[in-house]
Amino acid sequence: MKKNIKVAIIGCGRVSFHHAEMLRDVSEVKVVACCDLIKEKVEKLAGELNCRAYLNYHEMLQEEEVDLVTLATPTGVHFEHVQDILNHYKVNILLEKPMVLKVSDGLELKRLAVQKEVRIFPVYQNRLNKSVQRVKSALLNGELGDIVLGTVRVRWCRPQRYYDLAAWRGTYSMDGGAYVNQGIHFIDILRYLAGEIQAVNSCFARLGAKPEAEDTGVSLLRFENGALGQLEITMAARPHDYEASISIVGSKGLAVLGGWCANKLLTFSPNPEDEQIFSEEVPMAYGFGHREVYRRVAKVLLEENNPPVEFEDGLNTIRLLHALYRSNEEQKWIKLADQLESFRLGERNEKLLTPYLIKPPLVSTK
Ligand SMILES: NC(=O)c1ccc[n+]([C@@H]2O[C@H](COP(=O)([O-])OP(=O)(O)OC[C@H]3O[C@@H](n4cnc5c(N)ncnc54)[C@H](O)[C@@H]3O)[C@@H](O)[C@H]2O)c1
Repeated sequence: MKKNIKVAIIGCGRVSFHHAEMLRDVSEVKVVACCDLIKEKVEKLAGELNCRAYLNYHEMLQEEEVDLVTLATPTGVHFEHVQDILNHYKVNILLEKPMVLKVSDGLELKRLAVQKEVRIFPVYQNRLNKSVQRVKSALLNGELGDIVLGTVRVRWCRPQRYYDLAAWRGTYSMDGGAYVNQGIHFIDILRYLAGEIQAVNSCFARLGAKPEAEDTGVSLLRFENGALGQLEITMAARPHDYEASISIVGSKGLAVLGGWCANKLLTFSPNPEDEQIFSEEVPMAYGFGHREVYRRVAKVLLEENNPPVEFEDGLNTIRLLHALYRSNEEQKWIKLADQLESFRLGERNEKLLTPYLIKPPLVSTK
């Protein structure tokens, strides 16, 4: 039986270096190549990973034997890149968050993956934090009782210079705002812990900087299980990041997750000793979850296990984001069952998209 999977990374930007760091301890994964449009970036990552460097992913995928492609290109081009790759090669995809910006794009990728008999694994690495897993088990085994309230609060600092790093940042077509880019981690964990949401009511604003999309928002939530919830997410806190927390008020107790990425169990009333046991120090907001994501994905590909997050489950978080946006756009409650999408999130912008699209190969060898 194969002992490891061969991975190629596309997109050698900020998050790819974190992948490289996390992959150091993952013996089940061997990175064979990486690719970026910018020579200095790909050479730097290739140097760190001791792998081959490419400037064109078609060339890379035609020359290399690859089991899994990690796609870490800008969010707004995920759909086009995965579609192009699956149209030409039979390869599995590890897809950075947010997996896509339109639900219809997600459904098309799902169809293509089924047709090609490959898997697409969405990255929601923080679900795998031991703090989050402890709260999940407490909800499943009844320690916290029935859920009464589920709350997300993010108070981070993203000044204008952050949005100015690249033309796609903070745009509706390529990134989304505070809910989609940063809030998604915590919104996804709340969904994972407290269950599906029946209806939402949001109000968004731009209060700290001027990205195209929101940098601040509040939302009311009604869960399918009858619980209520609230989101309070801002990138306009100054002068630095303060808090990213998720709290679950249960009929038998309280759990509060905090730290950079829900890596700490701040309050756990059923057994306060667990607060220390299930907390981890992490140096930055990406956390350590990618390591476990790779281990589990390798296991799926080597042994046919269950993936860390099913594609459709990941897509439900995108559906929820669309309902939250649509509610702000229409200034009213939106029911998830109505499957209404935002008028703006994921809208196509050729000018922003085109620089990242590359030409198909002259000859496909696979
Ligand atoms: N899971 C997490 O915690 C986490 C954290 C940060 C970013 N992300 C996600 O990762 C993705 C990348 O974010 P980032 O901050 O690294 O962005 P970035 O802009 O730093 O990097 C993106 C890279 O993709 C490259 N690229 C674009 N088109 C390409 C193509 N056709 N072929 C090869 N390379 C191409 C760009 O040149 C750039 O170097 C985004 O979707 C983002 O939301 C996830």
